[in-house]
Amino acid sequence: MTSSLPKSIDETLDLLTRSSYVADRSLATVLFLALKMQRPLFLEGEAGVGKTEIAKVLSTALDRPLIRLQCYEGLDISSSVYEWNYAAQMVDIRMREASGDTNRDAMEDDVFSDRFLIRRPILQALEQVDGRAPVLLIDELDRTDEAFEAFLLEVLSDFQVTIPELGTIRAAEPPIVIITTNRTREIHDALKRRCLYHWVDYPDAEREFDIVRLKVPDAGETLSREIVDYIQRLRTKELFKNPGIAETLDWATALMELDKVALDPQAVSDTLGVILKYQDDIAAIQGTEGAAILKEVKSQAQAEGARSGASSSNAASATNEA
Ligand SMILES: Nc1ncnc2c1ncn2[C@@H]1O[C@H](COP(=O)(O)OP(=O)(O)OP(=O)(O)O)[C@@H](O)[C@H]1O
Ligand SMILES: [Mg+2]
Repeated sequence: MTSSLPKSIDETLDLLTRSSYVADRSLATVLFLALKMQRPLFLEGEAGVGKTEIAKVLSTALDRPLIRLQCYEGLDISSSVYEWNYAAQMVDIRMREASGDTNRDAMEDDVFSDRFLIRRPILQALEQVDGRAPVLLIDELDRTDEAFEAFLLEVLSDFQVTIPELGTIRAAEPPIVIITTNRTREIHDALKRRCLYHWVDYPDAEREFDIVRLKVPDAGETLSREIVDYIQRLRTKELFKNPGIAETLDWATALMELDKVALDPQAVSDTLGVILKYQDDIAAIQGTEGAAILKEVKSQAQAEGARSGASSSNAASATNEA
C-alpha cells in the first residue's frame, strides 16, 4: 500500500531519517512543501552531496515506484517519452501483406496502437499503475541541451504529453518530480519557476558524522570523527574538486577495510585516491599541506578527548559527592 504523504516538516524529517537520510530542516521544509503543493523539487549542488539519494529515499519511504530519467547531451523525446517499435510494426505490416490484408486504414490504426508503443520514463511516470503517482527523478538535467529543457517545461506545466497518433495522455495525479543538476550550466529561469528550489550544500561536521555513523557503523567513532574533521578541513582548501559525502563514506569504508581505528600519515597518504580524483589535488595534499591538516585533526581530537574526559570525571565526582 502507498504510504501517505508527511503532514508536517517534522514528519518529513522523520520519514527521511527512517530511510537512512540525514537531512537538515531546510531540506525537510522544501521537500514537505514540494509534496504538499505538488510541485517539482529542483535540487542543485556539488557532486556527491546526496541529491540523487533524496529521490531514491522518497520512493522507498513513500512506497512509490522510482522512475529515473538519466540526462545526457542529445537526450530527445524518443529516449525520454516514447518511441514506436518500428521493427515490430514492419513485421506486422509484412505479415498482413503476406496474408492478403490490404485494408490500409485498419493497418495504420493497428500499427499505431498501444501494442507498438515503447514507453520511456516520462510517459511511464504520467501513466501511473494502480493509481500510485511514482517518483520521477530527472537526474543531472544540466547535461541535456536547451531544446530538451524547453520540452520539459511543457511537461512540468501540464503533466501531459501528446502523441499525434494516439492523443493526449495526462497524469491523473502529478508524479513526485525531483530534478537534480550539478550546475555545469545554468538552467533556464522559466523551468526553475515551475519548481521549488533547494541548494544542497556540504553538510556541517555534526551532520556528516551522523551520516558516516549511519552508513558505515563499523568504522568506529574515533575513526569516523577524524575522517569527517579531515574532510571538512580539506573542503576549505583550494582544490579543483572537493570531496563529497560519497567520498567521505568511501574513505570510511576503505580505512575500515584496512583495519584502521584512527587516521595516521601513512594511511592517509595511501588512500588519498579514495577522496581526491585529480592528480593535482592529490599532489597538493600529499605533502606538507596534508600533514598540517592531519596535525590539526589530531589536536582537535585530543582537545575533545580531554574535554569529554574532564566532563565525565566531573560527573563522577558529582555522583560521589551526592
Ligand atoms: N544526507 C545524507 N544522508 C545519508 N546518506 C547520504 C546523504 N547525502 C549523501 N549520502 C550518501 O552519499 C552518496 C552520494 O549521494 P548522491 O549520489 O545522492 O549524490 P549526488 O549529489 O547525486 O552526486 P552526483 O552529483 O555526483 O550525482 C550516496 O551513497 C548517499 O547514500
Ligand atoms: Mg546524482
